[in-house]
Amino acid sequence: MSEQAISKVAVIGAGYMGGGIAQVVAMAQIPVVIFDADVDSTRRHHARILTEARDFEQRGLFAPGSVQRVEKYLSAADSFEAAVGDADFIEEAVFERPDVKGPVLARIEAAARPDAIIGSNTSTLPIAELAAFLTDASRFLGVHFSNPAPFIPGVELIAHTGTDERHLPPVEALISAVGKQSARVVDKAGFVLNRLQYVLLKEAISLVEEGIATPEDIDTVVRTTFGFRLPFFGPFAIADMAGLDIYRDCFTTFEKHYGARLASPKMLTDLVDSGHLGLKQGGGFIVEAGDSSALVAYRNTAYARLSQLLDELGPAPF
Ligand SMILES: NC(=O)c1ccc[n+]([C@@H]2O[C@H](COP(=O)([O-])OP(=O)(O)OC[C@H]3O[C@@H](n4cnc5c(N)ncnc54)[C@H](O)[C@@H]3O)[C@@H](O)[C@H]2O)c1
Repeated sequence: MSEQAISKVAVIGAGYMGGGIAQVVAMAQIPVVIFDADVDSTRRHHARILTEARDFEQRGLFAPGSVQRVEKYLSAADSFEAAVGDADFIEEAVFERPDVKGPVLARIEAAARPDAIIGSNTSTLPIAELAAFLTDASRFLGVHFSNPAPFIPGVELIAHTGTDERHLPPVEALISAVGKQSARVVDKAGFVLNRLQYVLLKEAISLVEEGIATPEDIDTVVRTTFGFRLPFFGPFAIADMAGLDIYRDCFTTFEKHYGARLASPKMLTDLVDSGHLGLKQGGGFIVEAGDSSALVAYRNTAYARLSQLLDELGPAPF
């Protein structure tokens, strides 16, 4: 398979994530077949995915014609082996438990064509640990969609040390064909998404435990301040735009009050010491120095439009 395009997909485990992944593949007019724990649950999930697609299209969340595409390109297999046997790429999306994923991956390997690529949607399990369930794991990697898969654009691609690198470009092409954006990530538990997300939650819980703020007020601060920037800029671009010297100085305060845990990282200190202050001087982690007018105009438009969207939607109905 390696350098060829992926033109047939199978998804094993058609629950919340597997169903959403199958839906986006079908909407891209790529044939995709699902199988769940048994024939009955596979048919149930197939019907649910179609119902959801109709609902999403009716509410204008999917483009017109999406339902027709899902009906045409998504099918429910009559057996595990029938789902996997003809696929160029098989995505595993069963329960987040090695004792469930392991036998499923071994069964996928046994039923798949020798040239097919196998992906796992695991959120946190190291890919190398799952690779141990395969005889030849060179065609195995993490392909981590985010929840809800029909709407969240990012996908982490996690090769383990034994993954044949030639399998990455066809998977990247598939991710792009289904309208998503992929990022390559080294194999370590939690990868990027969940490691960052869980650290944020842990610190937020610590703030509550220390009596600094209530969960409601912390969520308000996150949503309405730095979280407001995150759809457009990641932490590196944000730091570059703010000024790395300012960040280094803030870390000095943090270190004084919280110890080495929150001291300025060496990479940041080295950049500042060598005159790299971000956008304003010398460039930073990813943003180059120079005329910032286009970036500032983009930023202002982005935040103003996001405000308009939030006004239109109103608060989340908790
Ligand atoms: N839910 C999320 O927010 C989220 C986000 C990203 C990644 N993930 C990951 O995606 C994977 C699936 O999570 P989910 O939320 O879709 O779970 P889910 O419970 O909705 O779906 C899992 C499906 O796997 C099926 N299944 C169980 N054993 C099986 C077997 N032996 N053969 C075939 N199918 C089997 C179940 O019947 C179920 O339909 C997990 O690894 C999870 O960590 C979940």
